Amino acid sequence: MNKILVVVGSGTKMGNTDQLADSFIKGATDAGHQVHKVNLTEHIEGCRGCGACQRNGNHCVLNDIMQEIYPLFKEAEMLVMASPLYFWSISGRLKSFIDRLYAISTEDEYPHKDTMLLMTSGSKGFYAFEQAVSFYRFFINALGWTDRGMILAKGCKGEPGHRLIEEHYLLEAYRLGKTI
Ligand SMILES: Cc1cc2nc3c(=O)[nH]c(=O)nc-3n(C[C@H](O)[C@H](O)[C@H](O)COP(=O)(O)O)c2cc1C
Repeated sequence: MNKILVVVGSGTKMGNTDQLADSFIKGATDAGHQVHKVNLTEHIEGCRGCGACQRNGNHCVLNDIMQEIYPLFKEAEMLVMASPLYFWSISGRLKSFIDRLYAISTEDEYPHKDTMLLMTSGSKGFYAFEQAVSFYRFFINALGWTDRGMILAKGCKGEPGHRLIEEHYLLEAYRLGKTI
């Protein structure tokens, strides 16, 4: 049994990305893992780079949803990051979450995590996720983390309230969760 933290960086609850994350969570829960999901729909500030966290025992002075996430992150063995593709990159919310992890580092060392990436895009283009995946691979490698899989769901249509993600992606996400 693994402890898994799923962070959803979409502003849309029950949107394409949220649905993809939920399918993954269903699979992981069915497989007996303990999963915590956090939607970054609430206010999340960007890292100010003040460095206070490095002087006061890894405590970030910004008082927002990250204060709930830090303890969950600490105890999780696996971190699953979910995001819509925004201008060929991850969402600003997810990027802020990643930047704010600086608070738990000590001399640029981070506790090891297994990681996964779940993304959705409107485009069906072959290279749609190129920049986002490149960033993901680069930063987890820099932190010494280990990629355990990705689902990149293209051609997700819809407007708020009427989201549409192809069913086979949801099945893929379920299977990924089930086979961790
Ligand atoms: C601000 C914004 C930027 C977007 N940028 C892209 C993009 O660069 N490429 C793309 O294929 N889709 C883009 N999309 C479409 C979303 O990635 C896609 O609809 C996604 O599935 C929405 O996820 P959600 O339902 O979780 O909000 C963008 C959507 C928004 C709102």
